Amino acid sequence: MIRFLRNDAEVGVVDFCDENLNLLAHAQSIELDVGSRCGGHGVCGGDRIQIPEHILSTLSAVTEMERRHLSDAELKDGWRLACQCYLNGADLEFCVALK
Ligand code: FES
Repeated sequence: MIRFLRNDAEVGVVDFCDENLNLLAHAQSIELDVGSRCGGHGVCGGDRIQIPEHILSTLSAVTEMERRHLSDAELKDGWRLACQCYLNGADLEFCVALK
């Protein structure tokens, strides 16, 4: 399960984790707008999400596209681009904060 939060308020819940889908696709499955303006190609940088520290190691590696949009400090603080993140485990339950 993935809970999406904005300003600490829940804005959407996805009741599955599919390691074949990125986090943008999870949000889109419930028609949640996470700020994507490029269709998930890593170009716009609009779909910033902050991942809890204990989940970061379960995500796919940071991509070159993410490094273009996120500083080292932001990456260290758990910020990622939803369209670039894949889960490496299907039985996760966590909250994702939206910028
Ligand atoms: S949707 Fe544009 S960078 Fe992810």
